Amino acid sequence: MASSTFLLRRLPLCAQTGRLSRPSYPAFTALQQGWSRTHIRPSASLYSTHAAADLDQTNKPYYITTPIFYVNAVPHIGHLHSAVLADTFKRFHEMKGRKAILSTGTDEHGLKIQQAAAQAGLKEIELCDKVSKRFQDLFDAANISYTTYIRTTEPRHAVAVKKIWDDLLERGYIYKGHHEGWYSVSDEAFYPSTHVEEKINEKTGEKYHIAIETGKEVEWTTEENYKFKLSAFTDRLTEWLDNNPEAILPKSRHLEVQSWLKSGLSDLSVSRPRSRLTWGIPIPGDDSHVMYVWMDALTNYLTVTGYPWKNMSDSQKAVCGWPADAQVVGKDILRFHAVYWPAFLMAADLAVPKKIVAHAHWTQGKMKMSKSIGNVVDPFTAMQEFGTDTIRFYLMNDGGLIDDADYSSELVAGRYKKLLAGQLGNLLNRSTSVALNPSNKVPKQPSADNVHPDDKVLHKKLEALPGLVDEAMANYRTTHATQAIFDMIAEANANFTHCEPWKLVKDPAGHDRLQTVLWYAMESTRLATLLLQPIMPTKTAEILDQLDIRKDERSWEHARLGQGWVKDAESRKILPGTPMFPQVKAKK
Ligand code: MSP
Repeated sequence: MASSTFLLRRLPLCAQTGRLSRPSYPAFTALQQGWSRTHIRPSASLYSTHAAADLDQTNKPYYITTPIFYVNAVPHIGHLHSAVLADTFKRFHEMKGRKAILSTGTDEHGLKIQQAAAQAGLKEIELCDKVSKRFQDLFDAANISYTTYIRTTEPRHAVAVKKIWDDLLERGYIYKGHHEGWYSVSDEAFYPSTHVEEKINEKTGEKYHIAIETGKEVEWTTEENYKFKLSAFTDRLTEWLDNNPEAILPKSRHLEVQSWLKSGLSDLSVSRPRSRLTWGIPIPGDDSHVMYVWMDALTNYLTVTGYPWKNMSDSQKAVCGWPADAQVVGKDILRFHAVYWPAFLMAADLAVPKKIVAHAHWTQGKMKMSKSIGNVVDPFTAMQEFGTDTIRFYLMNDGGLIDDADYSSELVAGRYKKLLAGQLGNLLNRSTSVALNPSNKVPKQPSADNVHPDDKVLHKKLEALPGLVDEAMANYRTTHATQAIFDMIAEANANFTHCEPWKLVKDPAGHDRLQTVLWYAMESTRLATLLLQPIMPTKTAEILDQLDIRKDERSWEHARLGQGWVKDAESRKILPGTPMFPQVKAKK
C-alpha cells in the first residue's frame, strides 16, 4: 500500500490505466534522432503487468474481454466457446466477491464485411445490424452476462479510434509508406512472401496462393498506405514477455510469441486506400484512407472502458477496468492480440493487458469449423436440443486451451448422461431421497476430528477440492476444474453405495451413521454445485434452491467443507425434486 501511495503521489497517472496524464513524447523525439528503442524507455515499467499491480487497485473491477465477432457469417459453436470461457471467469471472480466487467460485441468494418454485404445484396450497415443482433441473441440465450455489448460502428468507438490514431501519429509511430505484399481478405492481414505458399486448383489448373499460417487465400497487393513502426517495439515486447512469463496462456503460446519476436518484426500497414476499402473508419485528416480493420477492432477493448477517459473523474477512471485482467482469444488471432495490440498500447503509453488467454479450436470431422467447408455447428440448435447449461458445460469440460476438440452430438449426450445425470444428478437424488430422509431436514454435521474410516478418502477430496478448482481457474483451465469436481462427485457416489444407507435406514442402530452418510452426500452435492456455478448458472441455482442454500451462501467463502447451512440448519427444508437432468437423446 505504501508503495502504491508513493507512486500515485509521484506520478500523475490514471490509477488503472497506467497512463501518464501529462503528455510527454520522448519516444517520438528519440526515434526522430535515430536512437534505438533500448535508449528510449522512460516509462518502460508501465508496460509490465507488475506496474499495474503496484498501483492502487483495490477497487479495480476484474475486466475480461471476448474477441469481437465478424458479422460476415452467423455464429457457430466455436464463437460461443470464446464467450462462455470469458463468462465463466467473469462469474468466477464475482463469486469471489470482485466486481467484474465482461465485454463482447461485433467487429463490423473491413473488406470482408463489405464483400459479404455486396454478396447478400444489402447495405453494409444492414448486414451488420442483422448479424450483430444474431450474436447478441445468442449470448443472451447462452446466459453470457456481458456488461457491454460493443459494435465497432458505434459513434463512441470512432472517438476512441481517432484518439489512439492521433496519439500514435503525434508520437511519431505512424508514417506514410508504400506497401507491397500478400493480402488475405479472410484474415484481413498482410503476409510476407516467406509465409505464403503456391497452390494449384485441381479442377481448373489455375495457380493461387495461400497464407501458410491460416490456409486462407491471399492476393498480391501494391498500395500506398500508412504504416505503424511495429519494428520499433521488438525489444519492449520481448522485455514484457520475459518479465511476465505468464502473460500469455497456455505456456506454449507464450513461447510461440517469443519466437516470433526473435525473428524480428516488420512495420505494419494500418490503413487501406479508400479506392479498395470504403467500409471503415476514415483516417483522421485523410479521407482517402480507411483505418486497418484490426487497429479499429482492437481498440474496442478501450472503448468499452470509456477511453479516452476525458470527462471522467479520478474515481471513475479507477473503476474503468483498464488494463484488462484477461483477454480471451482463439489461437488463430494470437498475433493480433499478443504483438500488434500491446505494441499499439505501448506506443500510446497505455498499460498492456495483464493476461492473454488463447484457446484451441472446435473442429468437426477433425476440420476447423468454417462456413465454406459447411461443417459448422449451430449453437442455437445445440442449446435447444440439450439445454443451455449442458452446452456450456460441454464446451468448458471438453474444449481446452492446448488441444483442438472435435464436436459431436453423441459426445454431448454422453457427457450429459454420464456426468451430469449419472454423477451429479444421481448424487442430488440420493441427497434428497425422501425414503432415506423422510424429515427433509439437513442431517447433523459430523465432527471433522473423528472422521469415519469409510469417509476418509471423500473427506480429504472435499477438503482439497476448492484449492484444486482455484488453481485450475487461476490458470484458466476449466477442463481441470471440472475434472477435479467430477472426480470428487464420483468418490461421493461410490462411498454412498459402499455405505449402503438403504440398509442403515431400516436399522435403528444405524441412525447416526445414516445421518453422516446423508450429510456427506449432501455436502458433496452442495460443494460441487457451488463450484460449478460459473459454468452452469441456471442448473446450479435450481439445485442450490432444492438444497435450501440461501442466495447469500453461494459465494467463494462458502465453497469450503462444512460451510453450508451454517446458520439455523434445523429450519432448512431439503426439497425432493423432479429429476434435474431428465433423459435426452442426441438427434441424428
Ligand atoms: N473479428 C476478429 C476478432 C477481433 S478482436 C479485436 C475475429 N472474429 S471471428 O468471428 O472470426 O472469431 C472470433 C472468435 O471466435 C475468435 O476467438 C476465434 O478464435 C473464435 N473461433 C472461431 N472459430 C472457432 C472454432 N472453430 N473453435 C473455437 N473458436 C473459434 O477473429
